[in-house]
Amino acid sequence: MGTIEFLNEKTNNYAPEIGIILGSGLGELADEYCDIAIPYSEIPDFIKSTVKGHKGRLVFAKINGKRVVMMQGRNHYYEGHSMQEITYPVKVMKKLGVKTLILTNAAGAVNESFKPSDLMLITDHINNMGANPLFGANDETLGERFPDMSEIYKKKLIELAEGCADKLGIKLQKGVYFANSGPSYETPAEIRMARILGADAVGMSTVPEAIVANYCKLDVLGISCISNAASGVGSAALSHEEVIDVTNQSKAKFKNLIKAIVQAL
Ligand code: HPA
Repeated sequence: MGTIEFLNEKTNNYAPEIGIILGSGLGELADEYCDIAIPYSEIPDFIKSTVKGHKGRLVFAKINGKRVVMMQGRNHYYEGHSMQEITYPVKVMKKLGVKTLILTNAAGAVNESFKPSDLMLITDHINNMGANPLFGANDETLGERFPDMSEIYKKKLIELAEGCADKLGIKLQKGVYFANSGPSYETPAEIRMARILGADAVGMSTVPEAIVANYCKLDVLGISCISNAASGVGSAALSHEEVIDVTNQSKAKFKNLIKAIVQAL
């Protein structure tokens, strides 16, 4: 059975309008709101999530009256999967009827005015992963060969998110997300390079999904939870535990913002 047929059967044609990919330490929203949860391991053609802090299931839920599909945990390029494999779920969301995709992640602060636990709206990205998920034969039914990338992170969604944050009294940062393949964190010299190139935050995800979502004409909103000062910006060595701990501290703020955005969409 194909992925779409399987999911439509399992969810009785749920028809989600909004997709949300929940990053490291941010998966709790899908515990709070959950009508139907399906482990990736049960879904035809999906790959399992293997990183600590990621659960690995697709969750269908209603949030403030809107039907959403959430990825509780994502697959990363550094796990050894191909770019095509890690972005397959975005194509699935498109085929399920999703119109807006909210991408979230934990990221290191390259911008020295950012503090751990800040939330940053992604205004643009730099793909330094050394690969592109649209490599290979193009499926013309999904999108064109050479997609325009001039406004992946839609201005109207950034404004909508800013309006929601204002009402909730949440201060938001805005900036450019710089994606490296990982899994090693950056060296201080690499962070200085990223800053010179215009980066505000750095991470190991989101960009492949944003490229594919833009390609198949989904409106994208990106939110980074700043979990640490990037290498060489602070004094401390980086650890995955710190990333998870800090995102855990800001998850209440994060969840409130996402709920308000979903309602306003
Ligand atoms: N670098 C890369 N990825 C990350 C970081 C970082 O500092 N923090 C969270 N994800």
